[in-house]
Amino acid sequence: MRILVLGSGAREHAIVSSLLSEPEAHQITAAPGNAGIATVVPVVALDPTRGDIVTEYALDNDIELVIVGPEAPLVAGVADALRQRGIAVFGPGKAAAALEGSKTFAKRIMDEAGVPTGKAARAGTLDEVATAIDEYGAPYVIKADGLAAGKGVLVTEDRDAALAHARYWLDHGAVLVEEFLSGPEVSLFLLSDGHNVLPLSPAQDYKRVFDNDEGPNTGGMGSYSPLPWLPEGFVAEVVDTIALPTIRQLANEKTPFIGLLYCGLIVTDKGIRVIEFNARFGDPETQVVLPRLVTPLSGLLYAAATGELGSLPTPEFSDDVAVAVVLASEGYPEDPVIGRPITGLADVENVTIAHAATALVKGEFVATGGRVLSVVATGPDFAAARARVYAALDTIHLEGSHYRRDIALRVVE
Ligand code: AMP
Ligand code: GLY
Repeated sequence: MRILVLGSGAREHAIVSSLLSEPEAHQITAAPGNAGIATVVPVVALDPTRGDIVTEYALDNDIELVIVGPEAPLVAGVADALRQRGIAVFGPGKAAAALEGSKTFAKRIMDEAGVPTGKAARAGTLDEVATAIDEYGAPYVIKADGLAAGKGVLVTEDRDAALAHARYWLDHGAVLVEEFLSGPEVSLFLLSDGHNVLPLSPAQDYKRVFDNDEGPNTGGMGSYSPLPWLPEGFVAEVVDTIALPTIRQLANEKTPFIGLLYCGLIVTDKGIRVIEFNARFGDPETQVVLPRLVTPLSGLLYAAATGELGSLPTPEFSDDVAVAVVLASEGYPEDPVIGRPITGLADVENVTIAHAATALVKGEFVATGGRVLSVVATGPDFAAARARVYAALDTIHLEGSHYRRDIALRVVE
């Protein structure tokens, strides 16, 4: 198949690697891709948020499937532009992508569909924020309504900090005040063709920058899959009580969701609750889910894009486990130092590297952003996979960089 992958992160690198591992040889192009992706497939420099440009490229190059990695092109309506021209695309149109692009839209859909989630109040003024946080009590959860690249959420015991965060985001639009939910978090990805869903294997993401979940939230510092501590029937319950009702609600509203429904869940003592939906694969969870996928990815995504998911069995996963650890630049997430060389990448063993923010300068990789790359290993158990990842991280050098040392440690202990 001729496949175009939109995006430039470690997630897209993992998607490309998964496609390349299939028995069928595909012609894959990434746009714009990154320096790591460019070592395995051709990349083209085009703006993935421009529906007109992406569609023209896809038509000129007889692309049979477009896979949209990040949220920005989805929210910009790139999938709509492609679909209008009859091109198969894995990724929801603008209206359904509002499930991620607008937290108030997501809450309304959940309400209508009867999906379990925490209480939330939309606030347009600081007075409304103050009223809501005093009603829910500490810890306070304040969220920007729109896309905020992982920076929109603050969970804090400090009322003044909550109000300051709200004041900042009120300048950009409304904010949501949420009831605090407590429990382990799960990321579950489900493929959808607009009517049917198929679950992938659950993963866990580590959002805080430092070990023991200290420091500010980030885009994600590491992940592992599967989650051996989940109760039996967990995935089926999410399919029945969360994913299918949400997909049906969107279909009823004539905005079918075709793509990846990312359910960000908290397992509270009162049951499973949705904390967020995303409209695309998660990063860094994709880096641990896809290496375990046995069923060819392209067939699944093509079936979702063409309304044929109902005829497929649930995707199969290997019994191997996977661990990913993100290498971050000095100063991430506040103020990452960029431009420094990364050495040792050629010497690592038993891992794969998913590049995120790297560039090739005079034959040497340099860091170009905060989350630089993910080191990913599979293994028969978490101790083995962790040992491989951390041995590789010992070999890789980036001055001032940091990474969490406790990814998947809980499951080993
Ligand atoms: P989000 O971007 O909505 O996934 O939020 C980022 C992180 O903030 C989540 O992964 C949780 O760790 C935390 N969080 C978000 N909403 C809540 C909530 N209602 N209660 C507790 N923690 C939350
Ligand atoms: N890992 C969180 C996200 O992709 O949104």
